Amino acid sequence: MKIFLIGFMGCGKSTKAKQLANKLECQVVDLDAVIVEQEKQTIAEYFAAHGEASFRQLESDTLKNYPYPETCVVATGGGLPCFFDNMEWMNANGKTVYLHMEPAQLVSRLHNRQKRPLIANMDDEQLLAFIIKKLEERDPFYTKAQLIINAFDLDAETLEEKLN
Ligand code: S3P
Repeated sequence: MKIFLIGFMGCGKSTKAKQLANKLECQVVDLDAVIVEQEKQTIAEYFAAHGEASFRQLESDTLKNYPYPETCVVATGGGLPCFFDNMEWMNANGKTVYLHMEPAQLVSRLHNRQKRPLIANMDDEQLLAFIIKKLEERDPFYTKAQLIINAFDLDAETLEEKLN
């Protein structure tokens, strides 16, 4: 079984994926990290060199072509579920879990903005407005997940329990 963790930047997908994979004793696949390794560029560098449209194509291709082991936990980029048929593909190929968080909670967790090109130079006020607007666009995709979990203060045990 592949478990896909989805949700906005800063909701804890990568950390939770590692913790959950540890508990389930299976591999973790972080799709942003796969792209960084493959392209030998950070996500910010990739955006600057090739633009967002090219990144979205690459992340969709990576999602669909990665040689996943039978059982694994996959951390996805925050925008991934909202492009092409990525959400449908994940729902057909595994279990999708939306780690939901409120906009103000996301702001308080997004300290390292420089590595995230969409929010790199925003102050807290600009970021809050951006998140509210983006979540409105993205929620229709995120909420196609098979499981929606409140991710604030979520520990790996609770996440594992909810998956059963
Ligand atoms: C993005 C989220 C990032 C990364 C890219 C775009 C987005 O991943 O894929 O910067 O559109 O929300 P994280 O959610 O892991 O930060």
